[in-house]
Amino acid sequence: MLLNKIEDVRTEVEKYRKSGLKVGLVPTMGALHEGHLSLIKKAKETCDKVVVSVFVNPIQFGPSEDFDKYPRTLEADTELCNKEGVDIVFAPTPKEMYGEGNRLSNDTLTYVCPPFFYVNKLCGKTRTGHFDGVCTVVMKLFNIVQPDCAFFGQKDAQQVIIIKKMVNDLNIPIQIIQCPIVREESGLALSSRNKYLTEEGKKDALVLSEILNNIKLCYQKGITDVSALKETAYSFLTDKHELEYLELMDRDTLEEKTSADDNTIALIACRVQGVRLIDNVYLK
Ligand code: PAJ
Repeated sequence: MLLNKIEDVRTEVEKYRKSGLKVGLVPTMGALHEGHLSLIKKAKETCDKVVVSVFVNPIQFGPSEDFDKYPRTLEADTELCNKEGVDIVFAPTPKEMYGEGNRLSNDTLTYVCPPFFYVNKLCGKTRTGHFDGVCTVVMKLFNIVQPDCAFFGQKDAQQVIIIKKMVNDLNIPIQIIQCPIVREESGLALSSRNKYLTEEGKKDALVLSEILNNIKLCYQKGITDVSALKETAYSFLTDKHELEYLELMDRDTLEEKTSADDNTIALIACRVQGVRLIDNVYLK
């Protein structure tokens, strides 16, 4: 069932809840691929009813980012969701979510702002305000749907860590379930933004997973010094790659590491053909 109105979602989910059914929410921005479907499948396994939101959230995009050109494929998304047995696809307009005017600021909208320690690094460094926009929309979706569980991918590792922190800090009674990264056979992590790449670009984009896998391999061979591990990346990079960051951090707290251990995550952001791609791997 495709719904666009907040009120309609509330009414429908209320019926589920009255029948004692467990409700799962999978927040997405659409252009669904196997990565999103893995979250939906997990939600179907875990819950009685599944709501998928499809909303390209204007307030998490910076002014020079790809909000306008972000792929919008609602018809195909709805079809995929139907195939997976999703109960509700919630696809609101920006106006439905935020009222008039969708280039909002915290002058006019109550925001949920995650702590500085979690946003002053990795993607937050270059995407100012991005995680405020993410937390705000996710909080709104949580309040609209009031699910028992919500599903997020490890693909956006900083995002899921920040959401868990928000849920914990604000005592939100929702269980966050994190799902592993789905990749193409080549190793490329699936992303809606891969659509911007040519075939050649997709090949060049393999360096992200190659660099991460190599770091993991070196760690497994006994190298723990973070500078030494990071240095192994440079032999993979060519003039086709514009590295934004490569960091090794604690996978729960995002504390920077000088020496890697079994709780370390390696994270990378790199531009290929002007497209900003991210990936990460747990060293163990
Ligand atoms: P979007 O990029 O559409 O991703 C929706 C969810 O799918 C996220 O939890 C993301 O981590 C997960 N996902 C994307 N690619 C994946 C992959 N290859 N393997 C596993 N999971 C993957 O993330 C967002 O939307 C937005 O920020 C959102 C949370 C919906 C808030 O607007």
